[in-house]
Amino acid sequence: MGWCVPSLSNHYVPFKSSPLPLAARNSFSHTPSNYSRSLLKWRRYHGFLDSQEIGITFKCNDLRHIISRSNSVSRVAVEANAEKKPLKIIISGAPASGKGTQCELIVKKYGVVHISAGDLLRSEITAGTETGEKAKEFMEKGLLVPDEIVVTMVKRRLAQQDAQEMGWLLDGYPRSLSQALVLENLEIKPDLFIVLDVPDEILIERVVSRRLDPVSGKIYHLKYFPPETEEIAARLTQRFDDTEEKARSRLQTYQQNVESVISIYKNIMKKIDGNRPKEQVFEEIDMILARKVEGQWMDHESPVGGNEDAVKGYNTFQKKNNWKGIPTRLNNIPHSREIREYFYEDVRRSTIRAIDDGMNRLKVEINIPELNPEMDVYRIGTLMELVRVIALALADDGKRVKVCVQGSMGEGVLAGMPLQLAGTRNILEFMDWGEYGAKGTFINIGSIGAKDVNDQDDIFILVAPQNAMGNCIIDDLQAMVEAAGRRPLILVNPRLKDLPSAGGVMQTIGREKRMEFAASFSNCYSFRLLYKVGTQYPIMGALRMSYPNPYELYVRTDTEQGKEEYVNVARFMEKPTREEINDIFSGKSRGKESKPTGLWGLLSAMF
Ligand code: AP5
Repeated sequence: MGWCVPSLSNHYVPFKSSPLPLAARNSFSHTPSNYSRSLLKWRRYHGFLDSQEIGITFKCNDLRHIISRSNSVSRVAVEANAEKKPLKIIISGAPASGKGTQCELIVKKYGVVHISAGDLLRSEITAGTETGEKAKEFMEKGLLVPDEIVVTMVKRRLAQQDAQEMGWLLDGYPRSLSQALVLENLEIKPDLFIVLDVPDEILIERVVSRRLDPVSGKIYHLKYFPPETEEIAARLTQRFDDTEEKARSRLQTYQQNVESVISIYKNIMKKIDGNRPKEQVFEEIDMILARKVEGQWMDHESPVGGNEDAVKGYNTFQKKNNWKGIPTRLNNIPHSREIREYFYEDVRRSTIRAIDDGMNRLKVEINIPELNPEMDVYRIGTLMELVRVIALALADDGKRVKVCVQGSMGEGVLAGMPLQLAGTRNILEFMDWGEYGAKGTFINIGSIGAKDVNDQDDIFILVAPQNAMGNCIIDDLQAMVEAAGRRPLILVNPRLKDLPSAGGVMQTIGREKRMEFAASFSNCYSFRLLYKVGTQYPIMGALRMSYPNPYELYVRTDTEQGKEEYVNVARFMEKPTREEINDIFSGKSRGKESKPTGLWGLLSAMF
């Protein structure tokens, strides 16, 4: 049966569901009293929406069809397709900060390929090559070996099959801005940049007492890690550059370059206190790596540490509602605190993961009624709560966050700002930003534009940027992006589409630029409720994407116990089009022309 057919760009797989009540009632029985008021406003507004909005055109019977057919499908299908990416790590730090020592432990646990620029150079020296001879001149002086030698060597090693397949751990490269830019230009992007931080005076002591075992390659220290046996002790060697004088010179070279290298990897950098026993240092690195590895798998069921309130709300919600997919009762406004906290936590963890993975142009789009100030301006409060959760989570991680909201735009009679955002800046200023005095230090409030981008800001959160009557926000946004450079910018519920004015006239100002700008940001979170075309009730389903997982399509159904349930029916590697969603909802098999092959062919046969 042609049930699981990949389209050219997207793959979808219907999901396993437990046996379900089959009735998908088109019932209004849960309509809350305040809903009809909002609905009127909502409809009035949506009369203007352009064709990009998702609408579903299926008949109710089709839902029965899908749900009953999806029973036979296994979740394994998607997970088998989710490739586990090999880890890519850079470890940096001053001479003798413990890079090599930690690399031994990381390789042992994570199986990545250790590529040490220093070792590559030393093996050339040992082999007596011309390259080695040239390199030694610089190494003896504690200087950087010229790029034409090091860069080629490292590039070649990274391209080898073992590193490509098992992942790599790059030690001692890049050591300068030019070396980092080589990687950038080759689009070689690490998942993590570890910096071992050790005071200078400790480093010298470590260098002069370091010894190496030429047989096992193990690193010893005469005081801290003495050799286990007399036999090993007898064969230990000392590196030619491990004298105090040379170590000081290497340290100076390191200090001259470190800042420029860090500037490239600031978003994915983890500074680790390396002045502790090596086991403790590794424990911290291990925790970070474990999170990275875990994040590569599609886990949409467990929250990731941090913000306690949100996590608590999320857990309570799961327990109380025996939650399996997404929260129900989303038509009941205002939403309960638990539902709100569920969404805050969902957004928070996907945003943090995306930033940890080095994304720097991010978009959060969440369209539940409670977060939609288009329906009632007071809902801006919920949006502010969401922004606070994201900002505090980033601040907890030591990042300086600037929360920005646009000010009044235009001049003279055209001056003004979108109604939804009126007073937002004041709310942000007076909000409770936690007990630890985060505001003014780790969290600052600013406006959208280049002038509020300061050197000390690490990350920018832009609250619902949008056009105002007769004015286009895009120039301010673009100026801000340029000023921020590689630092992450998060757009929360941007509204960059055409907007109707109060008089019903569509504002198309700067349209092309706005669309281009919006497309340069990637969703780290997206949630939208799905309705039939032209209606806002009942909710037919939902589309959710929480980085790094694919888009998940849910169908909402009423259960026999008078409750409702969201059933995950498909996953898409890219945002599905309206047609793709319609096809799933109406149970149509798509893309007869693209016969599935490999894994997909097998799945089709199974279904
Ligand atoms: P390289 O070989 O990379 O040397 P380095 O960066 O100076 O670092 P080290 O290998 O000395 O130290 P480490 O951090 O690995 O510390 P380790 O774990 O051994 O480079 C050498 C030279 O090559 C450079 O100077 C340059 O000339 C050239 N070069 C390399 N890369 C280049 C590039 N990209 N571009 C241009 N030139 C390049 O530990 C040190 C000691 O401390 C050991 O004895 C260990 O047992 C001990 N120790 C480790 N951890 C602890 C701990 N937690 N507590 C107590 N002791 C510890």
